[in-house]
Amino acid sequence: MGTLPADFVFGVSTASYQIEGGVSEDGRGRSVWDDFCDRPGVIADGSSGAVACDSFHRSGDDIAAMAELGIAAYRFSVAWPRVLPQGRGQVNQAGLDYYDRLVDGLLAHGIRPCPTLFHWDLPSPLEAAGGWLERDTALAFGEYAAVVADRLADRADMWFPVNEPNVVTYLGYGTGAHAPGRALGLGALPVAHHLLLGHGLAVAALRAAGAASIGCANHHSPVWAASESPEDEAAAAFCDATFNRLFAEPILLGAYPEGLGDMLPGPVAEDLQLISAPLDSYGVNYYNPVLAAATPGPGEAAESTGLPYFFRRIEGYPRTDFDWPVVPDGLRELVVQLTQRYGDRLPPIYITENGCSDNTGPDSVGRVADSRRIDYVANHLDALGDAIDQGADVRGYFQWSLLDNFEWADGYAQRFGLIHVDFDTLTRTPKDSFAWYRDRIAANRG
Ligand code: BGC
Repeated sequence: MGTLPADFVFGVSTASYQIEGGVSEDGRGRSVWDDFCDRPGVIADGSSGAVACDSFHRSGDDIAAMAELGIAAYRFSVAWPRVLPQGRGQVNQAGLDYYDRLVDGLLAHGIRPCPTLFHWDLPSPLEAAGGWLERDTALAFGEYAAVVADRLADRADMWFPVNEPNVVTYLGYGTGAHAPGRALGLGALPVAHHLLLGHGLAVAALRAAGAASIGCANHHSPVWAASESPEDEAAAAFCDATFNRLFAEPILLGAYPEGLGDMLPGPVAEDLQLISAPLDSYGVNYYNPVLAAATPGPGEAAESTGLPYFFRRIEGYPRTDFDWPVVPDGLRELVVQLTQRYGDRLPPIYITENGCSDNTGPDSVGRVADSRRIDYVANHLDALGDAIDQGADVRGYFQWSLLDNFEWADGYAQRFGLIHVDFDTLTRTPKDSFAWYRDRIAANRG
């Protein structure tokens, strides 16, 4: 089992729409997630993020909990519609004030503030104008980045402009399972380019404002082929190209994987120069590997992706309450693969998200014994130690998530937090995993 260096950065991650609530307060505009949640049937429990964990009113509690954990860094997201209610134009200073106070509160406890600028809550007026299918949305994102940087760059530490462009592309515009709920199949591909362009424009704005450190937060899954047949190997390679490489290579290599660049709109070659501006870190969100095949499995209701591959169920591993396979070694495999693929072009890696849904609730004395989460995090940290032993430059780990929160299309039915939230009373109860993570962080410092 590999060990982690004494200066390894431990943190937690959250996202605005998943925790803040306060959706109508201090001049916040609407986002695509407010609109999406209004549609009947799209959220498993019919809920929304209107209240969520009420962090808009309780950031003091969040900060106190993080101070107790002893984390070095907090990755949170700024809600674009709080800052620019119309998406661009008039700046809402009251919205920015919330993040200003949050940043100061974190610094007062020695916690490095690490903002993400887009964790999926696109202002509704921008979606009405075409959303991420339009190049103009990337330009608006660059303007918004400049506004936030102007307020926070003097104190914020690591910046991660866009969270998971691949998930927004595929779930938001490809299948429609997420907001804005457009099911365009391959027609979603322009979204990928515009999110990457938005990243590039945000990086330029952040650099101009003197941001301390800039990265990205890309979701990656190692793609396994369902068999050694040439068809399955080809399906897996295509899946890897469209899910992982399409989003990593423009940033790291200044190029799209072969064949894919031709399918994208705009002055792609020129844009790639912006998109590939050097970064200080490469953020990786990892949950599990995927198994890809050329055809659906026998008797299996394989989910069609609208792309020339099918996902099969990965057997032989424990599963989370979300029914996702638990494969800690997939994290080692992933960061070693990134290291081997991209060599000197790859900045130091930070795991910007990793965690599991474990819906264990309070027992009769109020204790939340989420031992599966403890095992999950412990084993993934061990896997990172192994990756470091194998040459990967991994500097930090942000656990997902501080609190049980609004889990997108699954509403409040999947709990990822170190802290249990009773969504009726908003009572917060640290789980066993909270105490375990606190002790793990302290032990690592030695
Ligand atoms: C997202 C989070 C989400 C988590 C668990 C990640 O892809 O960034 O917002 O809660 O997965 O589904």
